[in-house]
Amino acid sequence: MNSQTQLIGLIGHPVSHSKSPEMHNGMFAKLDLNYVYLAFDVPPSHLKEAIEGMKALKIKGFNVTIPHKVEVMKYLDQVSEEAKQIGAVNTIVNDEGRLIGYNTDGIGYLRSLIEETGVQLKGKRVLILGAGGAARAIGYTIANSPIGQLTIINRDQNKAHILRKSLEQYTKTDVLSIEQMEKGVKEADIIVNTTSIGMAPNIDQSLIKKEWIQPNHLVSDIIYNPLETKLIQEARSQGAQVHSGLGMFIYQGVIAFEKWTGITPDPSYMRLKVIESIKEKGRNTC
Ligand code: ATR
Repeated sequence: MNSQTQLIGLIGHPVSHSKSPEMHNGMFAKLDLNYVYLAFDVPPSHLKEAIEGMKALKIKGFNVTIPHKVEVMKYLDQVSEEAKQIGAVNTIVNDEGRLIGYNTDGIGYLRSLIEETGVQLKGKRVLILGAGGAARAIGYTIANSPIGQLTIINRDQNKAHILRKSLEQYTKTDVLSIEQMEKGVKEADIIVNTTSIGMAPNIDQSLIKKEWIQPNHLVSDIIYNPLETKLIQEARSQGAQVHSGLGMFIYQGVIAFEKWTGITPDPSYMRLKVIESIKEKGRNTC
C-alpha cells in the first residue's frame, strides 16, 4: 500500500448533494486502498485557481460536475478524443503533473446498459430523447457502437440537428419532431430518455404514451431520482425490458475509479453505497 494518502476530488457548484464521495470512499475502504475522495464547492470565478491548486498539491484526480464540465477543458494539458467530441470533461487524471481530461459519462452509460440488460447492440435502432449534455455523451458512445441507426427527438429541434450533424459521421442518424414521437417509438428497438422529464418533483410526467411501448422494446431512462421514473414503470408494465438511471452514475464512477487507481472496482458494492446514502439523506442527485 502507498504510505501517502492519495486525494481524489470533485469540483462543482454546488456539490453538497453529491453521492460520489460515499460511492468512492466506500470502495476505497472495501479494497483497503489508501485514497480519500472529497467534494470541493468551486464557483466559476475560482475554477482556474482550483485546477492550478490541483497541480501544485499533486492531487491524483478529480471529477468535474456542473457548471465546470466544458470550461475546465481549457485548463488541462490533454483532453481525450472522446471528451473533445462530446465537448465536456467529467474526469481528470493527474499523470505525473500532466492533467488529462476524460468523459466517462457515455462509456459509463453504455457499460451499464450492456452489463445490466445483456442487450446486443448490433443492428439495433436507437431513439434518443433529448439533445443536451447527457444526450451528447450517450449519443457519441452509442453512435460508435455497432447499432443500425440513431434517431434524435428534442423539444428544440435545432439542437437535435446540431447533435445529428456531429454523430452522422459514425452511424446513420436522423431527427424527428416531437410531434412524431409515436412514429419514433414504434420504429425503435431501444429508447433512451436523456431529458429531465419525469425527474423529481415532476414524477408523474413522461414523454411517451404507455400504449406506444411494446414488449420488444428496451426502455432506458438516465434519471435516478426517482430510482424508477414513470417511463420505466410503464415500460415494465407493458412487458418491455427496462434499464433505470442509477447504472449510468455508478459506471461513470467505475471507469473513473479505474483511471485513478488502475484497479477495477465492484459496481454492485458501489451501487449499494449510493443506495445506502440515498436512504440516509433522502436525496439523490449527483
Ligand atoms: P443534461 O446535461 O442533463 O443533458 P441539459 O443539457 O440542460 O441537461 O439538457 C436537458 C434536456 O432535457 C434537453 O434536451 C431539453 O430540451 P431542450 O433542448 O428543448 O431544452 C430537455 N427538456 C428539459 N425540459 C423539457 C421539457 N419540459 N420538455 C421537453 N424536453 C425538455
